[in-house]
Amino acid sequence: RAEQQTHVAHIRDLLQQRQAVMVAHYYVEPELQDLALATGGMVGDSLEMAKFGQAHAAQTLLVAGVKFMGETAKILSPEKTILMPDTDATCSLDLGCPADDFAQFCAEHPDRTVVVYANTSAEVKALADWVVTSSIALEIVTFLHQQGKKILWGPDRHLGQYIQQQTGANMILWQGSCIVHNEFKGSELASLKQQHPDALVLVHPESPAAVVAQADVIGSTSKLLQAAVTLPAQIFIVATDLGILHEMQKQAPHKHFIAAPTAGNGATCKSCAFCPWMAMNSLQACAHVLQQGDAGITVPTPTLQAARKSIQNMLDFAA
Ligand code: 13P
Ligand code: SF4
Repeated sequence: RAEQQTHVAHIRDLLQQRQAVMVAHYYVEPELQDLALATGGMVGDSLEMAKFGQAHAAQTLLVAGVKFMGETAKILSPEKTILMPDTDATCSLDLGCPADDFAQFCAEHPDRTVVVYANTSAEVKALADWVVTSSIALEIVTFLHQQGKKILWGPDRHLGQYIQQQTGANMILWQGSCIVHNEFKGSELASLKQQHPDALVLVHPESPAAVVAQADVIGSTSKLLQAAVTLPAQIFIVATDLGILHEMQKQAPHKHFIAAPTAGNGATCKSCAFCPWMAMNSLQACAHVLQQGDAGITVPTPTLQAARKSIQNMLDFAA
């Protein structure tokens, strides 16, 4: 505890010295989320992180999250220095969608509008017409569908399937998944709901269809947090990375949050419901990268320019 406080004080000083601001995701450890908020930074979902980083006057951003979040910040603000506590912190969706293979997939379907989830590399984003995050994917595909567009979607198959089912859009899906959300189990969730008939079920749409089908609220991390705080229920079953419970419990201290089951026995396997890459963001790693003074994330200019167009399409749509 004392060691943690020393790290926190040190990072505060370093942020000031470097005139840097922290942009954190809800899945990183509680100390980092609190530190971001206490130092004028933010905690949010991936769309909010992108918007905040782009709009903020600071010339250095410390992005506590995974690689695609740092890359998105760099693409939107090429003139800024984007630091990340650990640049090896990636995402199974990004890893499962190599740019060469995705380029081939696009080439096989030249008549389709390419929509990719933000959880991808800059190279994959550069191949897309649109980038979407979970908070706006449904609205954007609805819009494209109304325009008569046929969609090529990647990489998350569960989110893609959910959107396809909601919109009726003609979509061909890449078959990627998130190693955390893919573990939530529909049958065990049904039993847990029986034990807690008054509970509302909050589900991130990267979860399998059998889990999404039982949700009272489906949405991005921010949407789930907002639902937990504003809805009148006292008990919530939460199907997303358990890092979100920190802010839920902070903002709704009298409510009760239960982790959705990931294992066959109905229990939540702790190591399953935490993203291993988000966990690479530690206080020590933050201090280290701020001290080092390196150049931060880089994205080759042609990739950056192409990816920027597809991300900007989303931001303009969201505005
Ligand atoms: P959000 O955009 O909902 O925060 O999701 C990001 C993510 O990686 C979910 O696993
Ligand atoms: Fe990727 Fe899943 Fe981790 Fe989110 S929780 S960063 S989708 S692996």
